[in-house]
Parts: sequence; structure tokens; C-alpha cells
Amino acid sequence: MRYVIYPLLLSLSSLALAESAAANIEDLQTEAQLRIKRFSGELKTALQAAISSGGLANGVQVCKDQAPLIAAKWSTDGWQIGRTSLKVRNSNNSADSWERQILQDYAIKLANGSAPAQLKHAEIISSGDGEVFRYMQPIMLDTQCVACHGSQVAEPVTQQIRHHYPNDLATGFTPGELRGAFSLQKQL
Ligand code: HEC
Repeated sequence: MRYVIYPLLLSLSSLALAESAAANIEDLQTEAQLRIKRFSGELKTALQAAISSGGLANGVQVCKDQAPLIAAKWSTDGWQIGRTSLKVRNSNNSADSWERQILQDYAIKLANGSAPAQLKHAEIISSGDGEVFRYMQPIMLDTQCVACHGSQVAEPVTQQIRHHYPNDLATGFTPGELRGAFSLQKQL
């Protein structure tokens, strides 16, 4: 009997585990997307208000101050949310090796005709410290972004960017191009 029941139990329990991991990753993905929506919505609102009240140079200042604060606001309950890129403005946003690989993969897939919405990436990574859920979603450049990330940034804006970010790499982008990604993680 033992010989019959054991493998059966084992296979049933591993099936159940696989199913709960699959359900879990979907829930985590949904929550990651919700946090991105809140973070990007609030950042966009803050940026637009800053630009309409004080112009683009003021927008740079507000983005500098508000982006980390709004990210912190949505980095609760074990989550960490941020933005990254292969060409960063703020070096605190530099990609780690996992993020770099995914961003490089995005660039290849986009060049081969994938739609940005197809490039959401969710993964549970096991390491010595346990398991961590990681999620990335591309950020594409649109026409509103060129004033600060394009190839013809106005002089007062450039001055403000240089002042705060002497090592800025985040200009020269054109609309429709991959600018970077939202990147989230949660220790499980
Ligand atoms: C008013 C100027 C301004 C505009 C407009 C602007 N950005 Fe930025 N962007 C900045 C600044 C300043 C930072 C650095 C923020 C920080 O210190 O975290 C930044 C950072 C970023 C980052 C984080 C990675 C990095 O380079 O540090 C991404 C991604 C990004 N911007 C995308 C966009 C997109 C997409 C748009 C258009 C929807 C946009 N930005 C519009 C000024 C701007």
C-alpha cells in the first residue's frame, strides 16, 4: 500500500503547491500593477501641476523631490516600487543585473515588433534569503516627456537638470522609444 499511496500523495501535494504558486503570482502581479497605477498617476499629476504653475524647470525640481516620495508612499507592506532605465537621470535608479537583463530583452522584443503591453515580466526568485517576487513593466516615452528627456531640451531646463544630475544620461529619447521600466519587488 505504502508504495502506491506515497507517490500519489507526493504528486498531489506538489500539484497543489504549483497551483497555489500560480495563483499567488497572479495576485502579486495584480497588486504590483495597482501600485504602479497609483504611483504613476500621482507622479504625473504632481508633474503637470508643477509645470503649469512654474514651467518645465520647476517640473524638474518637483520630479526630483516628489518621485522618491511618491515611490516611498507606495512602498508599503513589504513592497518596494521604483523606476529604472538603461540610461538613468538619477543614479539611485540604476538597474541591477536582473533589471538590466530584462530591459535589454525589452529592447530586443520591441525591435522585433512586440507591443509594450506584452512585456510585463513577473518572476519569483529563490535565493539564500528566501523568495522574492519581482515585477517589471516597460515605460515608453511619449510627446509630453521630450521637454525633459528629448534631444532638444530648452536651455533653462538643461541647466536645472545639470545642476541636480551632473551625470544625467536620460536625454536624446524620441516618442515611442523605451524609456525604462517600473520595477517592483516584494520579499515573500
Ligand atoms: C519636467 C521635466 C520632466 C518631464 C516632463 C519628464 N521627466 Fe522623467 N525625469 C525627470 C527628472 C528630474 C527625473 C529624475 C527623478 C529622480 O531624481 O528620481 C526623471 C526620471 C525619470 C525616470 C526614472 C529613471 C531615471 O532616469 O532616473 C523615468 C523612467 C522617467 N523619468 C520617464 C519619464 C516619462 C515616461 C515622461 C513622460 C511621461 C517623463 N519622464 C517626463 C524629469 C522629467
